[in-house]
Amino acid sequence: METVTSLSSKDTIELFDQFVIPNYTRYPVSLVEGTGSWVTDAEGRRFLDLFPGWGCNILGYSPPAVVEAIKEQVARLIHVPNTWYIEQQGRFAEFLCSRSFGKAFFCNSGAEASEAAIKLARLHGAAKGRYRMITFERGFHGRTLGALTATAQPKHHEGLGPLMAGFRYAALNDLDSVRALVDAETCAIMIEPVQGEGGVRVPDPAFLQGLRTICDENDLLLIFDEVQTGMGRTGTWFGYQQTGVTPDVLTMAKGIAGGVACGALIAQESIAADLRPGMHASTFGGNSLAMAAGLATGATIEQDNLLQHVTDNASHARQRLTNLQAQLPIIREIRICGMMIGIDLSIPSGPAVSLCMERGVLINSTQETVVRLLPALNISREELDQGIDTVTDVLQQMAEQRGE
Ligand SMILES: Cc1ncc(COP(=O)(O)O)c(C=O)c1O
Repeated sequence: METVTSLSSKDTIELFDQFVIPNYTRYPVSLVEGTGSWVTDAEGRRFLDLFPGWGCNILGYSPPAVVEAIKEQVARLIHVPNTWYIEQQGRFAEFLCSRSFGKAFFCNSGAEASEAAIKLARLHGAAKGRYRMITFERGFHGRTLGALTATAQPKHHEGLGPLMAGFRYAALNDLDSVRALVDAETCAIMIEPVQGEGGVRVPDPAFLQGLRTICDENDLLLIFDEVQTGMGRTGTWFGYQQTGVTPDVLTMAKGIAGGVACGALIAQESIAADLRPGMHASTFGGNSLAMAAGLATGATIEQDNLLQHVTDNASHARQRLTNLQAQLPIIREIRICGMMIGIDLSIPSGPAVSLCMERGVLINSTQETVVRLLPALNISREELDQGIDTVTDVLQQMAEQRGE
């Protein structure tokens, strides 16, 4: 594949050193182009990416239908403010809501979707003086201050206090810990149907059903943060559709527009009515480009039958990794929900990332011990197998080095 850059990785890194605030830990590689699950660096080296776009590239790199839709849209209208109507926003809202429920508000990121949910929850509770929300240990809802306060991980709060008032943290799968926190000022419970950054942790369906009951009994909103699980990642359009529970509010972002920045909140109609004109806004929210990309992403998932493909690939991955677990005592647990794969180790998982990268495969490590994979929904069985082969080799090597 031909590269389109004239700078080497080293030159690009020098530019960053001089001009870019170093708030990310970056791999020493400059990426220049990609297709499907493959991405190429400035030196022409190709990687098989099992974590493309941090979960945003749900159809891999530059999916043709999304590229075409953007090209077509960009020549007509790039951006129109939300004081006008645009067909694409109406059609993408219809696409999302007809696969879930309610009505949609569009924004640009997961954190913004979380903020919209927090505001909606407070508006819902306002008449009764309610403002407190319950979220869950190891959860992740974004980096803006409201979303960050909702994120019950002390490491992300360091040096940023005082945080927003009104958040309380319960333990996952522990209904008593939730009940103990509900009081007369509580307005909502927010949870990821699968904790992503928290290490691919899948709550028990009975626990989620218990949350629904607590919310119904106490007139609380149940908010599912589907920023990572949304739009096909788990093998259904949304993660909640596998839990037997319907939330009142859904948030989503990451992959919904195939890698173009886009976020959304969906709320049951009676609840959505609290967002009256002027109460919330996002300048770029629902812009023509993101909407066109979202429609093309959704259409591709449907036309290529990717929900079934995800489900099939997930059971294949489960089988392979469960076999591996039987051979490798360093694997504590395999957690899989669609194309969200967590391999929890008894040793630090960080070294697996660089060892896989040396072998041309990109993965992620989270929560110190979890190898996390978020492959594109359309990764082929062969590519998935190739990636799992490499992860297997690397974990075997790590186990041998520890004499296990
Ligand atoms: C579940 C969840 N919510 C919210 C966010 C924040 O999304 P963003 O980085 O787009 O603000 C993330 C990001 O990883 C996430 O995984």
